[in-house]
Amino acid sequence: MGEPTLKDLEILARQAGAMLIVGFGEQHHVQRKNHYIDLVTEVDTATEAFLITQIRKRFPDHRLVAEETGVHPGTASGPRWYIDPLDGTVNYAHGMPYFSVSLAYADAQGLRYAAVYDPWRNECFCASRGQGAWRNGRPIHVTARSHLRDSLLITGFPYDRWTNPDNNVNHFARFLQRSSGVLRLGSAALDLAYVAAGRADGFWELRLKPWDVAAGALLVQEAGGRVTDPFGAALDLDAAAISIVAANADVHAAMLEVLALSGGIPPMPGGET
Ligand code: IPD
Ligand code: CA
Ligand code: CA
Repeated sequence: MGEPTLKDLEILARQAGAMLIVGFGEQHHVQRKNHYIDLVTEVDTATEAFLITQIRKRFPDHRLVAEETGVHPGTASGPRWYIDPLDGTVNYAHGMPYFSVSLAYADAQGLRYAAVYDPWRNECFCASRGQGAWRNGRPIHVTARSHLRDSLLITGFPYDRWTNPDNNVNHFARFLQRSSGVLRLGSAALDLAYVAAGRADGFWELRLKPWDVAAGALLVQEAGGRVTDPFGAALDLDAAAISIVAANADVHAAMLEVLALSGGIPPMPGGET
């Protein structure tokens, strides 16, 4: 059936963001998911329901991959959406204003449109395959910095960090000693948008989900950056866990070297460590 436009994604992201702002700073019904620190509130659920209903109404044959309700199969083979209604739930539940709505649309050729919306700052980061990336309509670009030692990096830590020793602390320590600084902000989608907008030079994180990274990955690529897994391979958005490195080309290469040095990344299935 039909195809969305980038404007459609932006409008949906802004509408969902308005829902997040209404509930921000209130007391929430917080539930814990698989791991002790993986939270969901009634706002995540209501905002996702809104997005699913809106997208289903116009594009009933598209496949939807959504954080809280999983996969909604579609009859068309190519078109699919990646939906995170609230990226940064831990921040949100604590009243910390750093969270976003993340929406990506892919066709048979791969990621086509992305919208990451920060409703607190009213900043919408959008990208369209082959056309570029924008913040509130103005073009954005990754930084031109070429040395890791001058770079500001962003990262995050996996929800199973209490129990899994491959918890990114080793990489964090190495990057801290080799860069200008490492931030841990708490919304992977917005972190990637910040790399696309040149506010940070690079981002890495282990074991994220497709809805965390799909939109942000297209943003960084369209802003002139490189996005791969820690081995330098293309991201597999169908994987259950996605480790990601995103930066301008020089910083990206330097980051892959540091990640290889610090070890501890599980081997690719059938590949080398
Ligand atoms: C989380 C955020 C966070 C990242 C976590 C994600 P959620 O998403 O992106 O920055 O470190 O791994 O799961 O749960 O707030 O949607
Ligand atoms: Ca998320
Ligand atoms: Ca979420």
